[in-house]
Amino acid sequence: MDRKALTIDYCEYASLEEMPERERRLMVCAMESTHRAYAPYSKFHVGAAVLLADGTMVSGSNQENVAYPSGLCAERTALFSASAQHPELAVEALAVVGYFEGSYTEASPCGACRQAMAEYETRYGNKLTIFCYLKEGRIRRIEGVESLLPFGFDADL
Ligand code: THU
Repeated sequence: MDRKALTIDYCEYASLEEMPERERRLMVCAMESTHRAYAPYSKFHVGAAVLLADGTMVSGSNQENVAYPSGLCAERTALFSASAQHPELAVEALAVVGYFEGSYTEASPCGACRQAMAEYETRYGNKLTIFCYLKEGRIRRIEGVESLLPFGFDADL
C-alpha cells in the first residue's frame, strides 16, 4: 500500500482593495447580487458572479423553494444563467459571498456546485479561478476546481 497526500494551494487577499480591479469588480458584482436572493427560509443570502471570456459578468443568487430541494444555490444560478445566455463564451472565474443579518459573510461552494463548476472547466478547456469571501473581509483565491473537488467524478461518455 502506498500512502499519498494532497496539498491544496490557495491565496488570500486581506481585503477587496488588495484585489486586481477586474477581480474586485467581480466580487462586488457578487456582493450586489446577494440583495436579489430569494431566501425566506434560511435567511442566508448568497451572491455569485461569473466572469466570461469577453469580460461579461453574469450574476446569480440563491433561489429557495418551500419544497427545500427544489431551490438552487447562487453559484449554479449564475453559471446556468451565463451558459444559457452566452454558450459560446468560456467561464473564467466565479466569485461567491454570503449576506446574513445585515453583513457580508463567508460562503464557499457546496459539493453540487463544485461538480457543476468542474463541468465548465471540461467544457471550455480552461481552469476556473474561484474567489470566496471570508470572515473579516478577506478573500480566498483558488486556481482550478480540482483544489475544491479532489477526485471529482468524470467520465468519457
Ligand atoms: N447556498 C448557496 O447559494 N451557495 C452555497 O455555496 C451554499 C448554500 C444557499 C442554499 C440555501 O438557499 C442557503 O444558501 C442556505 O443553505
